[in-house]
Amino acid sequence: MSDVVSPAALSEVQLRFLCQDDIDSVKLLCGDWFPIEYPDSWYQDITSNKKFFSLAATFRGGIVGMIVAEIKGRTKVHKEDGDILASSFPVDTQVAYILSLGVVKEFRKHGIGSLLLDSLKEHISTTAQDHCKAIYLHVLTTNNTAIYFYENRDFRQHHYLPYYYSIRGVLKDGFTYVLYINGGHPPWTIFDYIQHIGATLASLSPCSLPQRLYRQAHTAEQCDPVDTCVF
Ligand SMILES: CC(C)(COP(=O)(O)OP(=O)(O)OC[C@H]1O[C@@H](n2cnc3c(N)ncnc32)[C@H](O)[C@@H]1OP(=O)(O)O)[C@@H](O)C(=O)NCCC(=O)NCCS
Repeated sequence: MSDVVSPAALSEVQLRFLCQDDIDSVKLLCGDWFPIEYPDSWYQDITSNKKFFSLAATFRGGIVGMIVAEIKGRTKVHKEDGDILASSFPVDTQVAYILSLGVVKEFRKHGIGSLLLDSLKEHISTTAQDHCKAIYLHVLTTNNTAIYFYENRDFRQHHYLPYYYSIRGVLKDGFTYVLYINGGHPPWTIFDYIQHIGATLASLSPCSLPQRLYRQAHTAEQCDPVDTCVF
């Protein structure tokens, strides 16, 4: 792949789904991008199993980026992320898990990562529609570039996962990041309840009820104006 990439490269980038013929290229790319080794079965799965949304960004025929995600029921989320959604959401609520997102180094900061993420969101909006309430992923706590990338796109840290990854025999910490969509939200804390009650009270027209009572009472000539508005 060329060392110098034109700023206009994005206009030449095309998107297509991964297929089994891509396995060797995808293995090389993941070897470059991620410190984790995936088993061969993982590459087979992401390139052939239809449950995965596996999209490649190509430039002049070569893969320069990819995103792999799975949309699944909320009951299928990783055990450690079981509290991503409030329990009030029905069991058939869906979430999307990003297994992998990467762009070839020379092509980074050209908008390809954003294009892939936006394509996933577009896919969710056409297939899962508003049943999908969250997009989540795991990231090494030391992967600042990816963390900034996700935070700048409104993903928020949900969990700190100590010793989550085993990288060449060394345990490393991870984070869970979540983007809530379609009204999704985590379980409410006491603070959220207080805020909700405050917002509800603030949205009420404080004098409307007493005024109505006043008007009724006035019409019936039983009115005591001092009682009309207690707020
Ligand atoms: C994280 C990653 C996928 C981002 O991919 P990318 O193609 O660089 O993403 P983008 O180009 O869309 O966005 C990156 C930044 O470049 C900026 N950018 C995009 N086009 C640009 C342009 N033409 N000129 C200058 N900057 C540009 C974006 O605004 C963005 O900055 P921001 O986050 O401050 O808004 C990439 O860094 C990567 O592959 N990292 C290694 C693998 C990895 O760690 N993956 C995540 C695992 S969870």
